[in-house]
Amino acid sequence: MKKNLHLIRHPLVQHKLTLMRRKSTSVTEFRELVGEVAMLMAYEVTKDLPLTKAKIQTPMETMMSPVLQGEKMVLVPILRAGMGLLDGMLRIFPSARVAHIGIYRDHKTLEPVEYYFKASKTLRGRDLILLDPMLATGNSAIAATDRLKGAHPRSIRFMCLVSAPEGVRAFQKAHPDVPVYTAAIDRKLNAHGYILPGLGDAGDRIFGTL
Ligand code: URA
Repeated sequence: MKKNLHLIRHPLVQHKLTLMRRKSTSVTEFRELVGEVAMLMAYEVTKDLPLTKAKIQTPMETMMSPVLQGEKMVLVPILRAGMGLLDGMLRIFPSARVAHIGIYRDHKTLEPVEYYFKASKTLRGRDLILLDPMLATGNSAIAATDRLKGAHPRSIRFMCLVSAPEGVRAFQKAHPDVPVYTAAIDRKLNAHGYILPGLGDAGDRIFGTL
């Protein structure tokens, strides 16, 4: 596997992703599944976060015990489909901060257009996790990462569910230093920038706008 590309093969993730891919899966089921997969992937995505030790008091005695080191992490969903991954991640990291980035794909050019960005002023030195279920052309994720790097975070990780090989290549070329965590690398993109076999339009399936 390429450096900085992490394919998450955990059986529960794979099984739930199969359920999500099915055309017959309802909006309610899809929404639940995307949250569950996000929670399961959270472990892998954050497995190398730095730890430090804090002095705590157990009921028995004091001890130095591991805690996450640094400022609160920041979750960055790319609107709108990235919102589907947010709740699951917040279940695992309830005190994480959230920065929203709105990028849409121009349907003709497939180029990214940023229309919204709202983040705390203090992204500097923080660990960021960019969230988008689909890595298709890679254009949105590349543009979002460009924007986030400008805020000088300590680290950026990109978490998605389904990737196209074209998107992985483009993202890794633009941001070789940013690790990509994905549950699947599918066959290819179609002429409209959709992933095959994919799961369709993730935003439509999460929000019921089919
Ligand atoms: N975005 C989606 O939601 N699905 C795709 O297949 C590609 C981009």
